Amino acid sequence: MINKIIVAIDGYSSCGKSTIAKALAKHAGYTYVDTGAMYRAVALYVQRNTNSAVEELHDLNISKVVDLLQDIHISFVQTPAGQHVTLNGEDVEASIRTLEIGNLASKISTIKEVRAFLVEQQQAMGVEKGIVMDGRDIGTVVFPQAELKLFLTASPEVRAERRFKELQAKGENPIWDEVLADVNDRDYRDTHRAESPLRQAEDAVVVDNSHMTREEQMERIIDVFRKRCATI
Ligand code: DC
Repeated sequence: MINKIIVAIDGYSSCGKSTIAKALAKHAGYTYVDTGAMYRAVALYVQRNTNSAVEELHDLNISKVVDLLQDIHISFVQTPAGQHVTLNGEDVEASIRTLEIGNLASKISTIKEVRAFLVEQQQAMGVEKGIVMDGRDIGTVVFPQAELKLFLTASPEVRAERRFKELQAKGENPIWDEVLADVNDRDYRDTHRAESPLRQAEDAVVVDNSHMTREEQMERIIDVFRKRCATI
């Protein structure tokens, strides 16, 4: 019997982490956990309960956010459309996938207590292994002992283009310069925050997918996964 492992996938925003993580989980028969969705669900709750416009969030009252955490219950449910995140029992998958909530998630994720709150839940999900988890700090903080760590990357322009198309497909009317600026701002914030900044774990396998098709990328990753499992 093949032992199950933990696969930690980290990388910048919009570099296709969740697509790859989901596909690898399906291939391996593992559970997939999208930790970005958890930060987004917290952000949605904060937005709903503080009446803050995103512009005002630099004034976000940190102790108020920390107080709100005790009222937040996040879980995942399987739906015919795939895995959805729930916030206090409500399916919020559609509401969290906006630029505004993405930005707010990036901001609240700089708060130490928010990270501790979610990291504890993420670690509990990995106790039995057989998990593919994606985020920013999975190989460095959540599962530093993960048997396989992947670090995905692509140029900011390639990622902005992917996000631009995604927003268009959702019927939104994105402005290219804004989408690119947003990618760069988010990268800066995610890599420069004091708490668990995004960084590549020393033992991570780096995959730059700027010029790879999804199939090429999957082939590469499944190959790395198989080889890693064979050594366990
Ligand atoms: O992957 P995403 O775009 O859904 O994540 C939204 C934000 O959440 C991201 O900008 C930073 C934060 N995040 C984090 O700090 N740590 C994680 N493990 C996952 C996401």
